[in-house]
Amino acid sequence: MTLYVQPDVSLKPFNTFGVDVRARLFAQARSDDDVRQALAYSQAHGLPLLIVGGGSNLLLTGDIDALVLRMSSRGIRIVHEDCGHAVVEAEAGEPWHPFVQDMLARGLAGLENLSLIPGTVGAAPMQNIGAYGVEIKDVFHSLTAMDRQTGQLREFSLQDCAFGYRDSVFKHDAGRWLILRVKFRLSYSADLHLDYGPVRQRLDALGIKQPTPIDVSRAICAIRSEKLPDPTILGNAGSFFKNPLVSAELAGLIKQTHPGLVSYPQPEGRVKLAAGWLIEQAGWKGFRDGDAGVHQLQSLVLVNYGAASGAELLGLARRIQADIAERFGVELEMEPNVY
Ligand code: EPU
Repeated sequence: MTLYVQPDVSLKPFNTFGVDVRARLFAQARSDDDVRQALAYSQAHGLPLLIVGGGSNLLLTGDIDALVLRMSSRGIRIVHEDCGHAVVEAEAGEPWHPFVQDMLARGLAGLENLSLIPGTVGAAPMQNIGAYGVEIKDVFHSLTAMDRQTGQLREFSLQDCAFGYRDSVFKHDAGRWLILRVKFRLSYSADLHLDYGPVRQRLDALGIKQPTPIDVSRAICAIRSEKLPDPTILGNAGSFFKNPLVSAELAGLIKQTHPGLVSYPQPEGRVKLAAGWLIEQAGWKGFRDGDAGVHQLQSLVLVNYGAASGAELLGLARRIQADIAERFGVELEMEPNVY
């Protein structure tokens, strides 16, 4: 099959901010062979290749002078089963939340806390997606990636991926590896993580004493839907900033003037701060300038009310960063990839 390369395509449907920029060339990869053809095409034409999954961690600030390749490969299979566990492999283009639902419907637990996260399976390891006390690294088995220089395939173990908070080797070595498919180690018996934030409280409120993984998924969907805007209704890329890690000294200093500071001491002595709390304290919650804004219910989320450009959203993000640095001495790092 030959890769279908289209010229001058709007990327609005392919980024969850809904920013309307154009790609010089656009194609969808449904197989390893399509990916190889795209690599060859970009090399032959001296054009950069920009890989996108669900476009949910992406801020596009102008037209993209590249071949934009959307990973659209599909397929889910159980590759191994033993003692109540299964290793499941999913292709990069599988949409994340339906994959989680599919696993739960098959009686496989482990992904329930990661329900309703936008994006695709292939993008998930890039930033080690996480929510409500679980990160992808906790259920990760291995993945297959293609070396963009040589076209060769390589298997990555958990250790090879060097997962950290919203971080992995793929983020550091940007442009080298293209994730083709991911394996997860899931369980037929539940080992539930209910201690983070409002999860247990929500289950209690529903009168659920002995929750199943599906109950946990439902509770998390309800919690997320209340605070996080649905990108099909209001453009956004989830959390726009990472929660910053600061020294215990700085956290102590901020606490003197802001006793309500939300902070999580880390095992290595540093302290993680809730960026959303800092941004709200600084008065940005619900702020709007044209069509670029800060979500009314969760300050960590920037939103596009319709026609905001990527440059306007980036400008707003930079204003927030500068203000938080000035008020609290804290540097906020952006989470999405900016192009
Ligand atoms: N907070 C505020 N004001 C705000 C937002 C948050 O005061 O506007 C406070 C909350 O009250 C809470 C604390 O900050 O005390 C933490 O808030 P929340 O539990 O909503 O989580 P978060 O730190 O804002 C992180 C992840 C989310 C993930 C949630 C739940 C990051 C950057 N974000 O958000 O991930 O869903 O925890 O686990 O780590 C994403 O990465 O796109 C994302 C949505």
